[in-house]
Amino acid sequence: MIACAIAAVGATGAARAADPVAGKVVYEKNCRKCHKALPHTERIGDANLPRYLANPKKYNPKTAMDFRGLKRASDIDNVIAYIMSFR
Ligand code: HEC
Repeated sequence: MIACAIAAVGATGAARAADPVAGKVVYEKNCRKCHKALPHTERIGDANLPRYLANPKKYNPKTAMDFRGLKRASDIDNVIAYIMSFR
């Protein structure tokens, strides 16, 4: 219950607090080797990014992105926050 209370006090009131600084680390480790520049998200759509990044091949069997996916939900939230911080 205490953990819930702390999470609920997040700055924006979002359900999960995403951290773009932690997201940068996730990006450098997992994405940079292929994406020298930040990827566009128009074709995927921002709302679909969490499902895509969790398992790109499952989301779209024809994707050219040869990446197994991010396991941790927090990594996914954070890396998306990082990408969005450049908008
Ligand atoms: C092995 C190389 C590789 C890795 C690792 C990789 N990507 Fe990609 N990514 C690609 C390629 C190639 C495409 C183009 C896919 C297509 O056109 O089907 C792509 C496409 C994308 C798209 C969709 C762009 C669009 O067309 O809308 C996003 C978003 C994306 N990647 C984000 C990421 C993120 C975030 C990571 C790290 C968690 C990551 N990628 C890791 C190679 C990679």
